[in-house]
Amino acid sequence: MIILSGIQPSGRLHIGNYLGAVRNWLTLQEDAANACRFFLADWHSLTEAFDPTTKAAQVRELAVELLALGVDPERVVFFRQSDIHEHLELAWYLTCVTPVGELERMTQFKDKTAHGESPSVGLFTYPVLMAADVLMYRTNAAEPVHVPVGHDQVQHLELTNDLARRFNNRFGATFPEVQPLLTSTARVMSLKDPTRKMSKSHGPDHCLFLNDAPEEVERKLRSAVTDVGSPTSPGDMSPGVATLFSILEAFGTPDEMAHFRAQHANGTIKYSELKPAVARAFAEYFGAFRESKRALLADPARVDAILAQGAERAHTLVASTMQAVRTRVGIR
Ligand code: TYM
Repeated sequence: MIILSGIQPSGRLHIGNYLGAVRNWLTLQEDAANACRFFLADWHSLTEAFDPTTKAAQVRELAVELLALGVDPERVVFFRQSDIHEHLELAWYLTCVTPVGELERMTQFKDKTAHGESPSVGLFTYPVLMAADVLMYRTNAAEPVHVPVGHDQVQHLELTNDLARRFNNRFGATFPEVQPLLTSTARVMSLKDPTRKMSKSHGPDHCLFLNDAPEEVERKLRSAVTDVGSPTSPGDMSPGVATLFSILEAFGTPDEMAHFRAQHANGTIKYSELKPAVARAFAEYFGAFRESKRALLADPARVDAILAQGAERAHTLVASTMQAVRTRVGIR
């Protein structure tokens, strides 16, 4: 399978990124039959408020975190979006077949602009650049591209399919279908407001970051919201509790999981016991990650070399798509 996915460098990775997407990346790269391309979406990250003096460091930190989690640059083409200028060129051809109305429907755009701020054109056309990122790595019009992402990106992939069809209808069969690959936890909710998805933009206490120190994890989980609104009946799981359970399921022991599940089912669960158990499982699981992250951060030359090699490999891959697209559009 062709597998493609990206993450924006806009802060440290949180448990939503991990359970929704990165966990799947790590499984998919294990299968030698998969052609995996994973990248740092640094151009996308310019569509939100950012500090130019720290952007380069954020890009490197995201690379470090992904490598520390186990993304294997030997098996995966691992690169930085802005190293491959062709992504912007393809985005332009796609922009020219994109109806304005389709972009106005994007819920992520609507959410981000709901507070009266005037959005940039970059934020508006962000999904077209994302479509280019994905469609770029097709090999022909028949073999699908699979995209491991969280639930919040599915609408963008539907748009990608729409744009691919429009391009194909106008210029001839070029792009295949794109398919999202979702995990069982494709939508992890905020710790402090479990009615909203976990997101860096809501503030650091809404997120559990993978490299949070054990005391920090404990503190955040202690104040995590469990049951909201009217009391739930035994067995009913509120989104806050479901988040705690999905973390325990991913990182705790099956015995612990069975123990708390049974207590939840019969209504005797004590969150004052569940929360420290979740904190412990999480902090232990990511102990090795925190160590590797520290070591890699101290070796920036190594990280730069890995990204340079990734850029070289990605460049080779994009040549055939770009040639086909330029010819079909008639510009070359
Ligand atoms: P980004 O950087 O916001 O998030 C990275 C990945 O993490 C997933 N995710 C979540 N999953 C479950 N629960 C959550 N609370 C949660 N928060 C984030 C996201 O779904 C994503 O998979 N537009 C993309 C980056 C991108 C991209 C691409 C992805 C650019 N081009 C091409 C795939 C293919 C984004 O902003 O993800």
